[in-house]
Amino acid sequence: MTTYLITGAQGFLGRYLVAHLLEHEPDCRIVGLGRSPRNDESFTHQILLGQQNTPAPLTDALRAVAGDERYSYVQADLSQMAQMVGTLRDVRPGVIFHLASALRDDPVDILFQTNVVGSVRLLEAVAAAQLGDPKVVLASSGGVYGIPLPDSLPLDEQAVCRPNDYYSISKLSSEQATALIAKHSRIPTVTGRIFNVVGPGQDERHVCGRIISQLAAIGSGATSAVRIGALETTRDFIDVRDVAAALACLSRHGAKGETYNVASGQETSIQQVLDLSLDVADLADRVEVHHLPGRPADIPRHFGSNERLGQLGFELQYSLRQSLADILGYYRGCWAQAEEQAAAKTSPESS
Ligand SMILES: NC(=O)c1ccc[n+]([C@@H]2O[C@H](COP(=O)([O-])OP(=O)(O)OC[C@H]3O[C@@H](n4cnc5c(N)ncnc54)[C@H](OP(=O)(O)O)[C@@H]3O)[C@@H](O)[C@H]2O)c1
Repeated sequence: MTTYLITGAQGFLGRYLVAHLLEHEPDCRIVGLGRSPRNDESFTHQILLGQQNTPAPLTDALRAVAGDERYSYVQADLSQMAQMVGTLRDVRPGVIFHLASALRDDPVDILFQTNVVGSVRLLEAVAAAQLGDPKVVLASSGGVYGIPLPDSLPLDEQAVCRPNDYYSISKLSSEQATALIAKHSRIPTVTGRIFNVVGPGQDERHVCGRIISQLAAIGSGATSAVRIGALETTRDFIDVRDVAAALACLSRHGAKGETYNVASGQETSIQQVLDLSLDVADLADRVEVHHLPGRPADIPRHFGSNERLGQLGFELQYSLRQSLADILGYYRGCWAQAEEQAAAKTSPESS
């Protein structure tokens, strides 16, 4: 039986990884870790419904994890070394998925504290706990490649890294600092450079969540137009359920000390995402599209090669159309629930 520890388990990707492991490994034990208290209803991020920010509710499939006895949760902060060593000694994981992270919009000091210092602290705690070398799978980002050199697309794992924002710099530093301490402590690590994740529960900071949430709002009558920036920019979108499966694959087959892109291998423009989303929502030619002014993206084209991951036997299961349809279903469900709650508040019986 494998015991897994997942840092950032209540986050967007963490929830799907827990569900994936429970579904595919009947004989396993999973301990999730994060700073917030256990919450079996929502992710740690929020989504915007009209003018209202609200904790992003879990999907039904993710909510089912709550009743599974193989899963438990520990409230702990990566930066608290003594607490982390104690937790590791209690849990004795065979595999650690390190997903906890500050994200792109966080201030620079939080980015470096969480992503660089936090990752070093985790590996120091693993070494101090003397666990017999659990495998550590580090969730990094395709953003570490930054601005591609000419002729380097699709980006493979040998591509030069030229990160272009503090988040991506912190993720590359996290990889490098982790590699250093792993070498000294002989902890086997594998790094997954994850490209643009899409899937139900995603918020509006990400372009697919932003487009689809607006389409769901149009459906509910809250707005009548989609507002969107540069359409010619291209990215590599991969479903969150495929990312979860890819990380599980890395934990089993990834070679020690190696790095793998977790990418779809497909270059997709924001225009294509918009067209596909309108089609999926059955709103093509029926809504106004307002183009937001602004300068073109710093990185106009960005997509990865997933050949190396494929050599481990990994295959994608979700098309972008399917991911967008599932995000739409998610946002429509959220609107329906919000409307029900509003109606309940205004009904005479509630007064
Ligand atoms: N989502 C994407 O598009 C994407 C793309 C590329 C790479 N990635 C990488 O994938 C990983 C997961 O991303 P995500 O989208 O799932 O992020 P997320 O939803 O923000 O989840 C990250 C989690 O980390 C926890 N955390 C933050 N600081 C912590 C600390 N000091 N100690 C313990 N837990 C802490 C947070 O929970 P608490 O607040 O409860 O602590 C949060 O739930 C990250 O490493 C990210 O860089 C994500």
